[in-house]
Amino acid sequence: MLHKDMEKALNDQIKWELWSGYLYLSMSSWFASKGLSGFASWMKNQAGEELFHATKMFDYVNERGGRVVLQTVEAPPSQWKSPREALAAGLAHEGEVTSRINNLVNLAVKLKDHATAGFLQWFVTEQVEEEASFGDVVNKMDLVGDGGALYMLDKEVGARVFSWPAAGTE
Ligand code: FEO
Repeated sequence: MLHKDMEKALNDQIKWELWSGYLYLSMSSWFASKGLSGFASWMKNQAGEELFHATKMFDYVNERGGRVVLQTVEAPPSQWKSPREALAAGLAHEGEVTSRINNLVNLAVKLKDHATAGFLQWFVTEQVEEEASFGDVVNKMDLVGDGGALYMLDKEVGARVFSWPAAGTE
């Protein structure tokens, strides 16, 4: 059985992962409205990844005999001043997610819940990738600036895909 404090913290994180998906879908819509279909596609894929993260946690809570109670997911921002500002917001958001995941690990260790600490290692590794993914594009954006090079970057990120992993292979 999951400790009640762990169950609550995982429930909070499920909501946070869903909100992350909401944020990236909102960014996808904004990029689409600016004619940047590659960025729009990448952000939609990111939203899919976040739903996967939420579902992975959802399944884990159930597996441990806990109870998932879904929470209100607030509206995300819908406007950014520039593509760079949107992506920098994504990078900052991933930093926040990383710190929340680390807090979850700390709680699991404090509660001597080694199963949950082990489960969360997947997310610890995933966050390294997520931060690197946004960081890479923000850095490239700083190098290329606006204009024609942004068009090339749009093509590059538009090629990024996300396939929902088959159960047990992620
Ligand atoms: Fe679920 Fe992008 O962290």
